[in-house]
Amino acid sequence: MNEDDGLEGVVAAHTVLSEVDGAAGRLVIRGHALGEIAGRWRYEDAVALLFEGFFPGPAPRADALARARREAFERLQPGDAAALGKLPPIEAVRALLARLPDGDDLATALRLVAAPAVYTAAVMRWRLGVPALAPDESLPQAADMLRMLHGRAPSEAQAAALDTYLVTVCDHGLNASTFAARVVASTGAGLASAVLAGISALKGPLHGGAPGPVLDALDAIGSAANARAWLEGAVAGGQRLMGFGHRIYRVRDPRADALKAALRRLSAEGGVDASRFALAEAAEHAALAILREQKPGRALETNVEFYTALLLEALGFGRESFTCVFAAGRVSGWIAHAREQVQKGRLIRPQSVYVGPAPEKERDAPALAH
Ligand code: ACO
Repeated sequence: MNEDDGLEGVVAAHTVLSEVDGAAGRLVIRGHALGEIAGRWRYEDAVALLFEGFFPGPAPRADALARARREAFERLQPGDAAALGKLPPIEAVRALLARLPDGDDLATALRLVAAPAVYTAAVMRWRLGVPALAPDESLPQAADMLRMLHGRAPSEAQAAALDTYLVTVCDHGLNASTFAARVVASTGAGLASAVLAGISALKGPLHGGAPGPVLDALDAIGSAANARAWLEGAVAGGQRLMGFGHRIYRVRDPRADALKAALRRLSAEGGVDASRFALAEAAEHAALAILREQKPGRALETNVEFYTALLLEALGFGRESFTCVFAAGRVSGWIAHAREQVQKGRLIRPQSVYVGPAPEKERDAPALAH
């Protein structure tokens, strides 16, 4: 490893939470292959799975998460719409999360799992100049998130599609945001601090900020016939194609398939713009061909963000909110990893190699010796 590496190949944790097999394109979440749970489980089931053994007492029930949504909503203040509605949504959600108290107990954890869903819906409504809607405690979290956003109950297919997304992204090994959350948790700072570290890392375009730009690219491409020329120009101009490539996967990201399957199911219910879906497939096809031609030494495949963009767009989330929705899923993974790190009881403190100048006196010393 040299100092320019991004810690590739460095093992920084042993975890029971998830395994990312980049060569086989396989994701296992606590003993379940992604395909066993994505499209079948509600988000609440994934939270219970991830939290098992990390908090005393029985697994959290759906009604406890629903109550936590209400508690998160009650922390909103009258001036928030004006002040926070102007910020990029991820910054507004981060600011609201920063109000939540630190702690290491289940109540703190559930509030933090509930909050990104509540605050994303609120922030997106404020941007439209309409008031935030209180949670409906009778609904599961995915359905309620869509209801709080749109002001009407979603169809079963829409709620199931969002559940598929949230379950698909709930945990993914030691990605940048999870590592950040573990580092902060290892200091004993508490779960809210760990989640804030996670969301701050997630925000970047190389991690959780990619799906919005995927749609920007599709808009610029415009038609299937233009896909190859546009994408070739982008790569020739030194741009990275958003939604492609991954630090760990050297084959197709299994989450891309889980989300494409969700899109197909939603499409069968008439919930997806067919021409948009066709354009995306044409762009994906062209992008993969171009990356194979122009980066032959690299295995650059479709990653989770490509079909995330299509799915969240079909569910009516504005593209500027996509990273917030990602946080609403990944937050349970951050918390489980934070608890696992706390249980290990070891501060994360790696070393660095100093390559700067020596103090002046020491630099002179060899010369004086002569
Ligand atoms: N488009 C064009 N070229 C790419 C892409 C891409 N999407 N991804 C990697 N490359 C190129 C780099 O320019 C570099 O080329 P070079 O060696 O000629 O300079 C080479 O491939 C680097 O490949 P890797 O080592 O595999 O990539 P790295 O691990 O550095 O980056 C990353 C991984 C950040 C995800 C990258 O593929 C990327 O920027 N993708 C686009 C953004 C994106 O989709 N992010 C979401 C990732 S999924 C997630 O975090 C949830």
